[in-house]
Amino acid sequence: MSKIRVIGLMMVLGLGFVVAQVAGLSAKIQGYTGWTRVNINKITEGGAHPAAKDVYVNIANDRLAAAYQRPFAAGTLFVKERVDPATLVVTTLYVMEKRSATAKDWSWGVFERKGERFEGGVLANPAMCVGCHEQAAATDLVFTRR
Ligand code: HEC
Repeated sequence: MSKIRVIGLMMVLGLGFVVAQVAGLSAKIQGYTGWTRVNINKITEGGAHPAAKDVYVNIANDRLAAAYQRPFAAGTLFVKERVDPATLVVTTLYVMEKRSATAKDWSWGVFERKGERFEGGVLANPAMCVGCHEQAAATDLVFTRR
């Protein structure tokens, strides 16, 4: 893959300047870089998916105070974007989508970068994700505070 193409994809994904479809991502999360970033500073603790991460939610910034409520509304989407700290290239997107207004009723997905596209989707068996996110049961399985 050429260096220019890598930089191009980084712009689409990382900086959100370019409105373009990213190959392999579900339509629902194509625009996630334009959503509200919940964390203030990049998350650099090791944690589950090291090491440089941002968490986006599809709630407009001016509605965040009113709408960032547990349990989250049906249709709420969180995308955790992991970048390679050395290159700042996006490697992985972790996705949670609220299926109903009932607490803890999320679908879980992962998209992995493979060259110039992403591969992945909703997980048939998200037990591994849910098992750890149970630590945040009191906040509808969502760790990130606003
Ligand atoms: C070992 C614990 C652990 C596992 C396993 C885990 N996560 Fe997380 N996840 C976290 C933590 C901690 C955060 C908060 C941000 C951070 O520190 O990375 C988080 C954040 C998230 C977020 C942003 C919303 C939030 O809760 O803050 C999404 C989306 C997410 N994870 C999806 C997934 C998916 C999908 C899987 C399974 C493929 C998964 N996670 C597995 C610990 C885990």
